[in-house]
Amino acid sequence: MCGIVGYLGDRDVLPIIIKGLKRLEYRGYDSAGVAISADNEINIFKKQGKVSALEDFIGEKEVKGSVGIGHTRWATHGEPNDLNAHPHYSCSKEFAIIHNGIIENYGPLKAELESKGYTFVSDTDTEVLVTFIEDIYNSGEYSIEEAVRIALSNVIGAYAIAVLSTKEPRKIVAARKGSPLVIGLGKNEYFLASDATPIIEYTNEVVYLNDEEIAVISDDGFNIRDLKDVSKDPYIQTLELELDALEKGGYPHFMLKEIFEQPNSIADCMRGRLNSASGSLVLGGIRNYSNALINAEKIVILACGTSWHAGLVAEYIFEEFCRIPVEVEYASEFRYRNPIVKEGDIVIAISQSGETADTLAAIELAKSKGAIIFGVVNAVGSSISRTTHEGAYLHAGPEIGVASTKAFTAQLSVLVMIALRVANRRGTITERKYKELLVELETIPSKVKKALEYNSQIEYISELFKDAKNFLYLGRGYNFPVALEGALKLKEISYIHAEGYPAAEMKHGPIALIDEEMPVVVIATRDSSYDKIVSNIQEVKARKGVVIAIVTEGDVLIPKMADFVIEVPATHEALMPLVSVIPLQLLSYHIAVMRGCNVDQPRNLAKSVTVE
Ligand code: G6P
Repeated sequence: MCGIVGYLGDRDVLPIIIKGLKRLEYRGYDSAGVAISADNEINIFKKQGKVSALEDFIGEKEVKGSVGIGHTRWATHGEPNDLNAHPHYSCSKEFAIIHNGIIENYGPLKAELESKGYTFVSDTDTEVLVTFIEDIYNSGEYSIEEAVRIALSNVIGAYAIAVLSTKEPRKIVAARKGSPLVIGLGKNEYFLASDATPIIEYTNEVVYLNDEEIAVISDDGFNIRDLKDVSKDPYIQTLELELDALEKGGYPHFMLKEIFEQPNSIADCMRGRLNSASGSLVLGGIRNYSNALINAEKIVILACGTSWHAGLVAEYIFEEFCRIPVEVEYASEFRYRNPIVKEGDIVIAISQSGETADTLAAIELAKSKGAIIFGVVNAVGSSISRTTHEGAYLHAGPEIGVASTKAFTAQLSVLVMIALRVANRRGTITERKYKELLVELETIPSKVKKALEYNSQIEYISELFKDAKNFLYLGRGYNFPVALEGALKLKEISYIHAEGYPAAEMKHGPIALIDEEMPVVVIATRDSSYDKIVSNIQEVKARKGVVIAIVTEGDVLIPKMADFVIEVPATHEALMPLVSVIPLQLLSYHIAVMRGCNVDQPRNLAKSVTVE
């Protein structure tokens, strides 16, 4: 997590950095800061809290300069106060650094530097790194970039850094390992950021740094070398990202905008890939390894958070239609438990950001054992998309609200398309069923649109339950992962405790919690377990629980039992999660707004979790 920005050119740097930090605030918002290089001095301004607090702090102060770096922090080492905010000076203030990541061996390094007389003002690993760089530079033998390279060769951990020095005021040295970093190439100006969003309004020509690469940016241009000091040829990419996609477009929050974007984002995800009339499903990014996927004996799905929930839905789909056993793993657990992965095994990694540290590490582990990795990723050019063998992008556009919404439905759409293609090629699904599902999949954007029309009713229900202390979410079959996702959404943004459960498991524990104070959201759409879930609703009602049921349009039975019903259009049960999740997203959104929570930037969370 943490977002980093940098600029070197002719323009006034402060507004560029501040604007960039606002775009990256989704990566962390514990503190923000800038360092500007001018007149052989580096001036640092930093403040606990959001970028707006930093802006207020800088106020009318005159901040001149056209070379600078900025940081928005998600705290790891040291509490999120002004002192621990980035940028950090080195001991002499001749160097300044911003850092996204963790230096694991900072303890011994700090002790060694202290024994040489260096002192530290913060609790951070980052201040140790910049002082280490200074110490190497002070030996008199090395340039700034050499000092950075030597320091980085001696640290253990992950980093994306940018370093300024008064020794060469118009130079930025940047490097990455495990945390993302992209360089924007303007006309006689350079940009630097954790992702392309702060860059796109100035240039669409970018270079993504690879792990263990160091870029040196100056008025003479830029060059890239690796940690072994070998020169690297930069691969310049042209981005297609639209600036409009980064704005709120009239909505009060990004989350609401992204919820309402779903009819389009799902359609965008399927555009050019799915043609029900001809029965064709083309996933351009899955070619060379397509046969391996079709002949898979087992599939392992790796993901975290909401993406893990999408993986759970995919498990049901792959098992039902492809008859391939699937294991859905939390990447964080998988990477540390000596998993059994053989040469040629199939892994699907799902990630919105493409930067989640645990998912990346789990992929590397599976890769090292010879697995073939497919990525289902939203962020174009992200680390996961580049490390996987093949994959399919979501094409959902940038997701900025920290709580994932449109990425989830796009992930489901991609995973359904992959599964149906595999099922068709394996012959585990009849041609008729395959075509039927393609036709149905094409109707999903309009069904999601219909589900969104119940927004004001959901807002009304939210008002009634906004003060609840706990929520239970129940679902069966395909709707069980939706129950988990609904509970996660509520927890994340409204801070209400919520649990998702398979409805039948309720009687093995959560039923003890049910009383008239406990709202129970039951996803009870018409599917093969409908009768069973009706019984579960009755069990909740018998304990005086308050039932909010998500039902298929036209259902007459459940409205007689439930206290509140929210309708969604009918669809095939395997596709229902794409539709039934919509009211749950809206419910959590409205409750969070009514409770006065910061919906787009909930406390303690970050959108891109680049630490383990
Ligand atoms: C964070 C985000 C979640 C997301 C999870 C996995 O916790 O707040 O919304 O689901 O990371 O992220 P990924 O980018 O890998 O999907």
